[in-house]
Amino acid sequence: MQAEAPWDKPERNAMSRIAYVNGRYLPHRDARVSIEDRGYQFADGCYEVVAMRSGVFIDAGLHLQRLRRSLAALSIRFPMSDAALQVVMTEVARRNAVREGYVYMQITRGVAARDFAFPAPGRPSLVMTARAKALVDMKLMATGIRVITIPDQRWARPDIKSIALLPNALGKEEAKQAGAYEAWQVDRDGNVTEGTSSNAWIVTRGGEVVTRQADHGILDGVTRQGLLRVIAAEGLRLSERPFGVAEAKAAAEALLTSSTNFILPVVRIDDTPIGEGKPGPLAKKLAAAYADYAALGGSDRS
Ligand code: PDD
Repeated sequence: MQAEAPWDKPERNAMSRIAYVNGRYLPHRDARVSIEDRGYQFADGCYEVVAMRSGVFIDAGLHLQRLRRSLAALSIRFPMSDAALQVVMTEVARRNAVREGYVYMQITRGVAARDFAFPAPGRPSLVMTARAKALVDMKLMATGIRVITIPDQRWARPDIKSIALLPNALGKEEAKQAGAYEAWQVDRDGNVTEGTSSNAWIVTRGGEVVTRQADHGILDGVTRQGLLRVIAAEGLRLSERPFGVAEAKAAAEALLTSSTNFILPVVRIDDTPIGEGKPGPLAKKLAAAYADYAALGGSDRS
């Protein structure tokens, strides 16, 4: 009998998970990419995480727009229409019995002998997986979460959703070791850019919602874009501008957004309680309003 590879074991007793790999749907244990894939060699690729709730993708259109922008910035060709990509997304979710959770997709420049410069244009690699997850964590909504602050050590283009996520992984681990949920990265001017896998927001004592402008310094989150629409619809005051750590610590409320967490209230930054040290009224209101927005697919709804 053939020895079992270690990476096969975690899925052994679980329902067989199915991945899409370059045109084929395969059980995870059979899903493979080449060791010379440029994603593996150089992190030469992009990704998207698209949330699904009640079987409906949330803002799939905005995710695909951002994916095409990221790929174009890296001159990676992507030979599939949005419609075809959405068929694969739906199929991967269906084959994994996911109705609430997310689809992960990764596109790399493809397979080539290791050389820093680009190979002759070839076939990009596309891998897609799906995972069930409750997108609204009632416990975290009730308690709120803690964040720590860390220096932003990433490259100068975090607006490109590249798979090069080492600084993000290091930051998240630091947060975990500190008993926090997320780490807010701080640029050289002392301003908060964003979390390691989420966007950062505060509510000033004057009731203004503040989040950093979507420049090259942050990923323009799709949840961020959705929440901006919700804020406009609610008639709230908003400012897209930089904010510093001291301003964040003195804020009335703080929150974060991402596709896999929707909206979570932040109740402590480093050792400083925010507001009354519990989830604030506006964070709760925005979380409820965003859930309504997401229920119909976000801005994809017709
Ligand atoms: N991360 N900023 C960073 C650095 C991110 O990695 C993410 C998302 C966000 C929020 O973007 P969105 O609202 O489009 O999910 C902001 C995903 C969820 C991840 O890497 O798993």
